[in-house]
Amino acid sequence: MHKTTAYIEKNFKLANVDDKLFSSFIEHLGRAIYTGIYEPSHPESDDQGFRKDVIELVRELGITMVRYPGGNFLSGYNWTDGIGPRDQRPARLDLAWRTIETNEIGIDEFYDWCLKANTRVMAAVNMGTGTPQQAGYMVEYCNFPGGTWWSDLRIRNGHKEPYNIKTWCIGNEMDGPWQICHLDAADYGKKALETAKIMKWVDNSIELVVCGSSTSSMPTFPEWDRIVLEYTYDAVDYLSLHRYYENYGNDLDFLASFLDMDRFIKSVCATADYVKALKRSKKTMHLSFDEWNVWYQQRQKQHDWEIAPDILDDRYSLLDALVVGGLGVTLLNNSDRVKIACLAQLVNVIAPIITEKNGRVIRQSIYYPFRDISKYGRGTVLKPVVITPSVETCHGDAPLLHMSVVYNEENGYITVFCLNIDQSDDMLLELDMRSFGKLSMAEHVCLRGDDLNAVNTFDAPDTVSPKSMEIIGGEHEAFSVRIPKLSWNVLRFRTKG
Ligand code: AHR
Repeated sequence: MHKTTAYIEKNFKLANVDDKLFSSFIEHLGRAIYTGIYEPSHPESDDQGFRKDVIELVRELGITMVRYPGGNFLSGYNWTDGIGPRDQRPARLDLAWRTIETNEIGIDEFYDWCLKANTRVMAAVNMGTGTPQQAGYMVEYCNFPGGTWWSDLRIRNGHKEPYNIKTWCIGNEMDGPWQICHLDAADYGKKALETAKIMKWVDNSIELVVCGSSTSSMPTFPEWDRIVLEYTYDAVDYLSLHRYYENYGNDLDFLASFLDMDRFIKSVCATADYVKALKRSKKTMHLSFDEWNVWYQQRQKQHDWEIAPDILDDRYSLLDALVVGGLGVTLLNNSDRVKIACLAQLVNVIAPIITEKNGRVIRQSIYYPFRDISKYGRGTVLKPVVITPSVETCHGDAPLLHMSVVYNEENGYITVFCLNIDQSDDMLLELDMRSFGKLSMAEHVCLRGDDLNAVNTFDAPDTVSPKSMEIIGGEHEAFSVRIPKLSWNVLRFRTKG
C-alpha cells in the first residue's frame, strides 16, 4: 500500500473561503429552465410553476449564487423580453442553441425561484447584441428602489422591493468566435469598460465580472485576458475563466484534470498580476471561475428550433464524480484568488440534478462531491505539507492523493477532502494534526465503487452514492486512515470543546 503523510498546522492559513465559491449556473438552454426548474403541469409544482422536488435538491446542495441567464444564450438575449404579462412576451429564436425561447421565465421569476431555493442571483448582461445602456437599464430595473421608469416598471410587475443583485457578469465568453457578436479583445475591453461605468453609476454597491478566456486552449489566451484587463482593471472586481474537462480515453489523465485547472488558475493570476504591476495598482484582481465541470458526451447534437429539447444532457459516471471532486479540491486550494466558482450547470444541462418530464428527479454522481465541498468547505483553507507519491500523466506528475484541508473555527471542525487517483492500491493517509491538540474523528464518507462507469438512473438512483466508513475512536493528535483506491473522501475531525 502507498503512504501519504500530511502535516496540518492550524496557523498555516491560505484564505477564508468566499461562500460564492459554491455557486452554480442556469442558462436558458435545453431543459434547464423549462421542465427543469419550471414545469407548471408537474404534480410537484408550486403556485408559480416551480418544481418543489427540484428546489429541495438545490437547497440540499447549499448553492450560494446562480449565474443567469447564460451562457451563449446571453449574447442574443434581450432581458426586457422576459418581463411583464406573460401572454405579451415574445417567442424568439435563440441563435446560440437553435431553439425557440418562449420567455415564460425572465429575471422576475428567476429572482423568486432563487429565494425559494435559498440562493442568490448572479446576473449577466448581454455584450453581444446588447448595449451598455441596456445593461444599465437592467441594473436600474433590478436594484433601484423606485421613482424611475425602470424601477417603477419592476414595481408594476409585482416586486415592490428592489432585488439588490450584487454580482454581475459583463457578457459571456466574448473571446469565442461562436459567440453572437463576438468581439476582439480591445473592442470588448472598451465596451466592457463603458458598460461597467454605467452599471456602477446606477448602483455603486455592485461588483462586476469581466470576461476572461473561455478556456485555456484558446489561441488568444492569455493575451485576451491581458488586453481586457488593461482596459478594465480599475472598473471591475473579477476576471472570469471557464474550463470543462473531457475524458479522451485515458482514465488516469482524466483523473488528473485538477493539475490542468491549477495551472490555468495560476496563469490567469500571473496575467492579472502583470496588469496590476503595469498599472501600479494596489488592487489584486480576484477570479471568477464561473463555468467549471466535466462535459464531453453531448457536444455534437444539432437542434432545429424546438422549445426546450434535450441538450447537453450528460449522464455522469463514478469516474466523472471523482474528477469533479479533484477539481473542487483545486478550487479550495486556490481560494486566495478564486472567490467565485460556478458548477456549470445545475439542472438537466451538464448538471448534478436531472429531471424526467412530468416525472422524477435524481442526483447524478457529481452531485455528491459538489455537495461535500459546499457543505464542509466553509471556513479557512489551510496549507498542509503533503508528502505523497506521484504518477506521470499527460498534465505532468500528479500526486496520487490530492487533498485540501478546511478549518471551520466557528464550529470547531477540520475537514480533509481527498481524491485518491491510485488505480492499483489503497493509500494509507497519515495525518499529523498536533497543532490542534487532541481531536476526535467525527466522520469518514467515501464515494467509490467497482465500476467506474456506473451511473445513477431514475430506476436505480443510488447506484453511485457515498457510504460512511468506519472511524477511529478516541482522541488523538495523529490519525492513520485507509483511503480506498480510486475514491473521493471526506474526513471530519472535531477539536476539543
Ligand atoms: O455551459 C454550456 C456552455 O458552455 C455555455 O453556454 C457557454 O458559456 C460555454 O461555452
